[in-house]
Amino acid sequence: MKYLSKEEVIDRLRRYRFVKNQILEIIGGWVLSTPEVKIKIQYGRQLYSDASHSDMLKQRLYHLGARTDDRQITYPAQKFISYLEDIWRNATRTSVRLYTIDVLLRSLLVDMIRQQLEQTSIPEDKGTEEILRKIMSDDYARISWANSAIVELAEQGEILDDSVKQQLKEKLNQGGGFMESENPGVPFRKEFAYSRMPIRPGDWKIIEDPNDYAEKANTFDNVEGKRRLLHDLMDGELCSIERLGKMLAEFSELPWEMKLQLSKQAWDESRHAEAQIRRLKEFGGKVGDYPVNYWGWEVDVNRRDPLERLAISNMTFESEACKHMNNWIETARATGDEESARLIEFILMDEVTHVQIGKRWVEELTKGEPEHYKKVMAYPESVLQTIRPKGIKLDDLEQN
Ligand SMILES: [Fe+2]
Ligand SMILES: [Fe+2]
Repeated sequence: MKYLSKEEVIDRLRRYRFVKNQILEIIGGWVLSTPEVKIKIQYGRQLYSDASHSDMLKQRLYHLGARTDDRQITYPAQKFISYLEDIWRNATRTSVRLYTIDVLLRSLLVDMIRQQLEQTSIPEDKGTEEILRKIMSDDYARISWANSAIVELAEQGEILDDSVKQQLKEKLNQGGGFMESENPGVPFRKEFAYSRMPIRPGDWKIIEDPNDYAEKANTFDNVEGKRRLLHDLMDGELCSIERLGKMLAEFSELPWEMKLQLSKQAWDESRHAEAQIRRLKEFGGKVGDYPVNYWGWEVDVNRRDPLERLAISNMTFESEACKHMNNWIETARATGDEESARLIEFILMDEVTHVQIGKRWVEELTKGEPEHYKKVMAYPESVLQTIRPKGIKLDDLEQN
């Protein structure tokens, strides 16, 4: 048996890391344009799972002596990068997206890992082995999830026939895989058109006029109010997954630790949405039952400075939501609804950390640039002069 040398192990881990980071960015971008709520939520989970894998690889590379950023990633041949770019630009159907990235690309990655494990010498490279086994088992789970999601989509009429699958397989083969070293490529930027509102299933009702929203009875002291509120909260979580995914896709140059935290936040928001949907169902409601609005959307996701996005959403909207949540917990408990109180309590704990993530990175990335810091921090206020996104009361903000 020929075992891999340390340098060969390093080379492989760097390439897996490239693949994981690309999956993170591509899925991050697709979160926005995928209408199916269930898949959007799963994508939110996957962002963190892929980012964690990339982080484990990064740490292992460090332990193997590859300590600087440029030694922790390898760009494969341009042919493969062009293949990914083609997928990014042209895969618009959800089933095609699931099949290319979550089935084919993950299967290729798992094959490479399995091959490596056969050439891994234990115990000296046990550190790598454990990480690779973890990645492999998570990716197997993703592949089987994607396959069943494709079947479910087919039942709803979006059929991915065998000839299309075959074409997609051939495309991947033509891309040559990520182990080739000749003619290394340059990663492409993931670009987005201006976005007015997120993509939702076609039968959802969207409120265009803010005045219509004021009429809504979002209270937490009766069942109808709870249904409305849970639905609104759930839609807000979807918006968060989307805005975080977009940031990860659009700004690959952000510090790694920041991207890891943003992806963790996306996972939190996915769990929140799932818990809210569960509770909504327990109250007899379902996803898509109530109209939604997107007044906080445009002013966030289109900003060129990612820190302004954090200032408006993490530091302002999420901080405002925390105050409301405290009220809802009290109201739920006062009316004997311990289950809802507990649910919101768990969510609130995460939301507090989201405000902190925003604050931390705004401060860290404007260090030594007081003018930039001032501009970023002035942004939310300037927005709230002209619009009033859901749940935000200007007078509340003025008191703080
Ligand atoms: Fe949340
Ligand atoms: Fe949040």
